[in-house]
Amino acid sequence: MADAFLVRGGASLHGSLPVNGAKNSALKLIAAALLAEGRTTIANVPAIADIDAMLDVARHLGADVGRDGDGTVTLDVPGEVGTATPPELVRRLRASIVVLGPLVARHGRARLAMPGGCNLGSRNIDLHLAGLSRMGAEVTYGPDYVEARADELVGAAIELPFASVGATENLLLAAVTARGRTRIINAAREPEIADLATMLCRMGARIEGVGSPELVVDGVDRLAPTHHAVVGDRIEAGTFAVAAALTGGDVTLTGVDPEHLRLALDKLAAAGVDVSGDAAAGLRLRAPGPLRGTDIATLPYPGFPTDLQPQLLVLLSQARGTSMLTENVFDGRFSIVAHLRAMGADIDLEGHHAIVRGPTALRGCEVIATDLRQGAALVLAGLVADGETVVADPHHVDRGYADFAGRLRALGADVERADAARARTPGGLPRAVLGP
Ligand code: EPZ
Repeated sequence: MADAFLVRGGASLHGSLPVNGAKNSALKLIAAALLAEGRTTIANVPAIADIDAMLDVARHLGADVGRDGDGTVTLDVPGEVGTATPPELVRRLRASIVVLGPLVARHGRARLAMPGGCNLGSRNIDLHLAGLSRMGAEVTYGPDYVEARADELVGAAIELPFASVGATENLLLAAVTARGRTRIINAAREPEIADLATMLCRMGARIEGVGSPELVVDGVDRLAPTHHAVVGDRIEAGTFAVAAALTGGDVTLTGVDPEHLRLALDKLAAAGVDVSGDAAAGLRLRAPGPLRGTDIATLPYPGFPTDLQPQLLVLLSQARGTSMLTENVFDGRFSIVAHLRAMGADIDLEGHHAIVRGPTALRGCEVIATDLRQGAALVLAGLVADGETVVADPHHVDRGYADFAGRLRALGADVERADAARARTPGGLPRAVLGP
């Protein structure tokens, strides 16, 4: 069955939607649970494929895992957890690399297959490994595995040349039970890292500087299991905010802190979107008038989030004027451009800049998801395209968005998940001629 999103453009989105727990926090909270023997419960965990994969990693390492219907995950962690994960598990999910720190911390060694996950250009883990080495781990690696050993991890001052999210998380997870003080300088400051630090402190960790570019961790002998609820997903919220703006709708998003996507909301406002509300009342997005072009540059938090870059490219294609979007975080994250061009968008690439001229009418055609944010953005493009858009390989979107079609339909969109053969366009859709 050629599973796909079938999207028919024209509807504007209206209504209220609860935002799920953040994928990029929940994955790391599961890794954190491995640091403490006993039962840890994590609430507000999104029902997405990446979580399934990470829970399989936890099971493989010896945890008993339970999930109830309202998003609460229970992890019963044994005194001895495993120290290796099979390649087929780790390759499904780049984020699984963050079990490296906890496993070395708890058992002095870990062997992982090289991480898989989204195809976003080079995605190294050199900063993760260099930091663990600074803490006394002996790191070796081959083309498809990485191994770390340490009789004892010792606190160290670690300066990150780039505020890497994953490296910050891995080193934080290693430092909380290391001997002595660890300083992570130029640490990433994403809200998901603050969420992880909050849970670790509830487990007994001693962490200062949360939300600042320097984390100071004083190691403790052991951590205790805890209960924690995952922070709202600012990227899922931003995705639905763009959907509301694109379709001239009026949507309220609850369960997310607008401060966690402040710069993205400022850019939507600059493009002519009416942004209002707060964490308590909900974030309300209205786009009564035409959209205006604006320039955007992605940066580590609190800069504009790279995970909303494909979605904003779609929005800028519908905005009046010429916009420049600069991607500073990943070196290969413009895969959506060829598909948007095939739909009629006027976008030129110059290195890590995308020059977008709008507004241009988009026409439905068959396009292909290549990673979860690009795939979600193609569905958004279908919401404003003339006719029907078929987004193939939708499993990429399932990694980070629970029931994406159903949740868009709940706001009035004409989107279904079905066999591409059911596409309504007689004689099949013109396959997008995808450029390099
Ligand atoms: C996390 O990836 C997120 N994934 C990504 O979200 C997000 O785009 C990214 O942070 C940036 O915000 C999860 O949290 C599971 P990085 P991560 O380490 O940790 C380079 C999504 O759509 N780098 O900040 O991999 C790296 O190559 C995903 O939900 C090194 O060179 O991001 C990249 O160019 C996509 N060496 C840049 O830094 C290293 O050791 C950002 O990487 C580590 C990173």
